[in-house]
Amino acid sequence: MSVSNALTWVLERHQPEGVAAPLFAEGPVIVWAPEPDPEPLLVLQRHGSQRALELVVTFKPDAEVLAAAGVMTVREPTVMDAAGAVVVVTRHREQTLVHLADALARTRPGGAVLVAGANALGASWYEGRLEDAGFELEVESKAKCRVARLRRPEVLPPLVAEWAALAVPTEVEGTPLATCPGHFSAGRIDPGSALLAKVVPPLSGQVGDFGCGWGFLTWSVLQKGRELTALHLVDADASALRLAEERLRAPVAALGIPLTATWADCRKRPPELPFLHAIVTNPPFHQGDRQTLSVGLDFVTAAADTLRQNGRLYLVALRNLPYEDALNSAFGTVRMAADDGAYRVWDARDPISEKARAARLQRQKRTR
Ligand SMILES: C[S@@+](CC[C@H](N)C(=O)[O-])C[C@H]1O[C@@H](n2cnc3c(N)ncnc32)[C@H](O)[C@@H]1O
Repeated sequence: MSVSNALTWVLERHQPEGVAAPLFAEGPVIVWAPEPDPEPLLVLQRHGSQRALELVVTFKPDAEVLAAAGVMTVREPTVMDAAGAVVVVTRHREQTLVHLADALARTRPGGAVLVAGANALGASWYEGRLEDAGFELEVESKAKCRVARLRRPEVLPPLVAEWAALAVPTEVEGTPLATCPGHFSAGRIDPGSALLAKVVPPLSGQVGDFGCGWGFLTWSVLQKGRELTALHLVDADASALRLAEERLRAPVAALGIPLTATWADCRKRPPELPFLHAIVTNPPFHQGDRQTLSVGLDFVTAAADTLRQNGRLYLVALRNLPYEDALNSAFGTVRMAADDGAYRVWDARDPISEKARAARLQRQKRTR
């Protein structure tokens, strides 16, 4: 059972059709980080005579799944004076507290605020924090998930301001960059990315950063770059992408070249991008809450499809992750550029076109 199912169950219990005092009064409801499942969202909408929902989704693949089901989302909340809010617990405690503080600030006094989370993500931990702050909670649990409900008081307790302050970006020493809770490797440079930054040669032309996060690899390319003509940030996380763009805008402009920021799923070629001379990447091994290697392998083929002939991919990964076969099927030349015992950096050149890859696969099948 997912959080969505638990949320649907709670909403249906407390908001049956025609009830005199529904959970949410008339007006818009904001939902932070819903799972990519339209079910509880449709229940929420049904019980407010076409209630306006503002669904805050920063992860592009989730936004795409919801859009395909006809559910529109926003990257940042805009509604003030909401009738209520639902905060779905993420993998990052501080990020969820920031969402919670924002939900409380945007909800009108008396409005309901729900916190829904899986026990595996520590849903009950938030109940402790809310009680510390002085909120009275009603909690329901359903199949390994919990949903806590509270009413927004007239005056918010001081602890809520502390949670809101967690959203202030943390500066990354020695760079113009910064991170926020929830971003990959928040507050510190990832050791794998540091290795890639060390060994990547000066790059030229149009260079992309697939899964750029808060922009560390683009910053490294910029520092070493020779005859760069454009830099392209790409990430599925709208929040990290926005901060990377904000912090890199001035240093890139100082070089007189353009910087683009594309909110995209790098498991396939982002159509907004031109064909590139080089790509750097430290691919993710998570997709939402799931740990998976396949997303990184898809990054490799998407990179091959985005590079020009003779283009180069620099990829870093934990040394135990089997990237070699995927690199060899998408690139003509593959070389290990570094191995520090924990991470490996791969230098892959001469991307093989999608057509040539398919033909090669057919030949392999025939000779088997
Ligand atoms: C291992 S982190 C690397 C971040 C950054 N390049 C660095 O070196 O610190 C992987 C990044 O990929 C992003 N990501 C995850 N899934 C993605 C997807 N399907 N498409 C694009 N980016 C994705 C994550 O948001 C994260 O910022």
